Amino acid sequence: LDNGLMRTPPMGWLAWERFRCDIDCEHDPKNCISENLFIDMADRLSEDGWRELGYVYVNIDDCWASMDRDEKGRLQPDPKRFPGGIPKLARYMHDRGLKLGIYGDMGTHTCGGYPGTPLDKIKIDAQTFADWEVDMLKFDGCYSNATEQEQGYPLMSNALNATGRPIGYSCSWPAYQGGLPPKVNYTQLGKICNLWRNYGDIEDSWDSVLNIIDWFFENQDTLIPAAGPGRWNDPDMLIIGDFGLSMDQSRAQMAIWAIMAAPLFMSNDLRTISSGARSILQNKMAISINQDPLGIQGRRIIKEKSGIDVYWRPLSKDDSALVFFSRRNDMPYRYQTSLKKLNYTTGSYKIFDVFTEKTMTLKDSTDFVVSVNPTGVVMWYVSAPAKLSLRQLYKGGKL
Ligand code: DGJ
Repeated sequence: LDNGLMRTPPMGWLAWERFRCDIDCEHDPKNCISENLFIDMADRLSEDGWRELGYVYVNIDDCWASMDRDEKGRLQPDPKRFPGGIPKLARYMHDRGLKLGIYGDMGTHTCGGYPGTPLDKIKIDAQTFADWEVDMLKFDGCYSNATEQEQGYPLMSNALNATGRPIGYSCSWPAYQGGLPPKVNYTQLGKICNLWRNYGDIEDSWDSVLNIIDWFFENQDTLIPAAGPGRWNDPDMLIIGDFGLSMDQSRAQMAIWAIMAAPLFMSNDLRTISSGARSILQNKMAISINQDPLGIQGRRIIKEKSGIDVYWRPLSKDDSALVFFSRRNDMPYRYQTSLKKLNYTTGSYKIFDVFTEKTMTLKDSTDFVVSVNPTGVVMWYVSAPAKLSLRQLYKGGKL
């Protein structure tokens, strides 16, 4: 969507995967969906080095609303859990250089059973979100049929635009229609949404991450052309820092989400996150690959019988990123290849290993071996061969 927003994939934090629909603030005050949770996360984002790296969205998901609309027909937050109202949270974010995201549902109810936004409520809800100074809307799709969605998602896009407030727009529409043409029209999605969920919900396990990776790369020829500045495929939240992934699997999620130009919304507890998980999520080179200004989504270029996959993403200035990924469950696998076999030509490349921070120079024709841990990755930032300067060409007698 060309609304000037999200020219690189959005980054931040989203409540759903880690905190779900915990509304029991009496017994679980630290973890329930309440203004305190979002304030805590905003504090962590702004004080623990996240904001400077680009993690600026703090996004509310389902279960924030009160069961009834107000006397003017507007959505309202649960008064016990959000006593200051949404404008207070928006102000809290904006004062700290952060942004606030909210959640709605195209349908009669949200998936959690809270009031939804049926067709006749789209305008008023868009205006309410804008009045609250919200910066992003995730528009879920429970309790509506295909016909209603076909009307509702474009209508909400127009309604948000009509408020005059820049609001990033995340559409769950394709995920409710199987994620693939002919039911899903990616050209249209790119015009009306900034990002969209293509596929099912992530869960806190490696199985879930692997299942998502496989779906996205099996369908890469459909999905890659849909992505670009302002319009992104969304494979769902980062679960790094939760309970389901080892450190190797966490690096794998970070690497593949960077290759995919995926939105980076963490769903974890930033108050208690381990330093290991934090350093993966704060890896500057992985983030810069994810945020590359060309915004070209990467692809799987090799799937070996040995269980090694190779992923590649073209970056600006003729640079690129490579990920060697292991589906094995035995031991580190020594994978032998050469840059030439990975479609590189023209000489010598400078390699930066994203997670070990080692560098080396490699000729395209030289065979090398990478050792890839089980369910882990090796990720490289590959710099294009230095172009000879005019002066060097002149001295070398080439001009
Ligand atoms: C389904 C969505 O895909 C999830 O990300 C989450 O928003 C839940 N609904 C909330 O009910």
